[in-house]
Amino acid sequence: MDDRQRYDRATAALEPPFAILDLAAMRANVAELVRRAAGKPIRVASKSIRSRPVLERVLAMDGFQGIMAFTLPEALWLAGHGFTDILVAYPTADRHALAALAGDPHAAAQITVTIDSTAHLDFIEAAVAGARPRAEIRLCIDLDAGFVAFGGRFRAGALRSPIREPDQAAGLAAAIAKRPGFRLVGLMAYEGQIAGVGDAPPGNAAYARAIRLMQARSARELVLRRGRIVNAVRQIADLEFVNGGGTGSLERTVREKAVTEVAAGSGLFHPRLFDFYRRFTGHPAALFALPVVRRPNPDTVTVLGGGYLASGPAGPSRLPQPYLPAGLRYAPDEGAGEVQTPLLGQAAEDLRIGDRVWFRHAKAGELCERFDALHLVEGDALVESVRTYRGEGQTFL
Ligand SMILES: Cc1ncc(COP(=O)(O)O)c(C=O)c1O
Repeated sequence: MDDRQRYDRATAALEPPFAILDLAAMRANVAELVRRAAGKPIRVASKSIRSRPVLERVLAMDGFQGIMAFTLPEALWLAGHGFTDILVAYPTADRHALAALAGDPHAAAQITVTIDSTAHLDFIEAAVAGARPRAEIRLCIDLDAGFVAFGGRFRAGALRSPIREPDQAAGLAAAIAKRPGFRLVGLMAYEGQIAGVGDAPPGNAAYARAIRLMQARSARELVLRRGRIVNAVRQIADLEFVNGGGTGSLERTVREKAVTEVAAGSGLFHPRLFDFYRRFTGHPAALFALPVVRRPNPDTVTVLGGGYLASGPAGPSRLPQPYLPAGLRYAPDEGAGEVQTPLLGQAAEDLRIGDRVWFRHAKAGELCERFDALHLVEGDALVESVRTYRGEGQTFL
């Protein structure tokens, strides 16, 4: 039985649109991530999962430890449900959530918030001023792990932290040490230009070579700079963790002695954007099914829904991929539609009203903002349906 037959059979009782998670595919992805992490713990990036029961399953597997959350309200909610060791990896400007954190010693012991400037310290201080009790706030400093060349005229990597050099990091660590109520426990440096950029982009050999060159140079630069920063900060604070990397960079990031743990999430679902790496291959695990609702002509079908674009620079790479049956493509004038999506190609000839077309999202967790549930498929059986964040009424972004 091929994958399409398995998925159709497992979900025969469901009406599309719906989303599934192929558990065997996810287990294979887990094994690959854990192998690539070579013994260093993987902090699971919740933005790439967005389902509490799936996070629980992942954390029950060997090799995973702690959560990398994306907002403080999310982290508080997860802590309230018993999750521990939660790093909010992006700065927060949510005064209410900060006050709630400071006022809840249990949550404050499990959650670490990320900063990159004394302005963040001032903001947090003001937000928690009225909290009673006022628990100590655990902090992580975010570092700029981007790649810069040609005297700053070329830059690759996320525009995030202004903290790039050891003296800057040490300066911020010293400022934290002087302020009561804060404890610096971690450093984080995400090299998105390696972890999040495929080094085997399709159809453009020169671009692929440029990416590989940039990534190799960036990795060489980062191993030295990250090491120096960690040494400088360790003179000032007892760090519990130094986090780096992401799905696309694990084997490289774990080689750095200064890094104590890596982060990964996308690799569990293996969305479309992660097909273009030479260092690993994954198994598409999260899919969604849309029903064929009409046939404009013999080699075109129109499915319901589909316009679930991924974040990032807008363009074809952010569209979902019509996956099964193979060989379907978008109509150039319509793309993935708000309510309906025409799909062209020979494969359309065999599709009838009510048949499903299976899609992959370009990214991982954003899929769950569209669906209330993930239906868990084992072989050709549906074994359980679990709620997404959205299904629990939680939309954090
Ligand atoms: C701070 C941080 N670490 C790690 C990652 C990697 O996550 P993933 O493995 O889901 O791509 C990201 C993704 O953007 C990130 O922002």
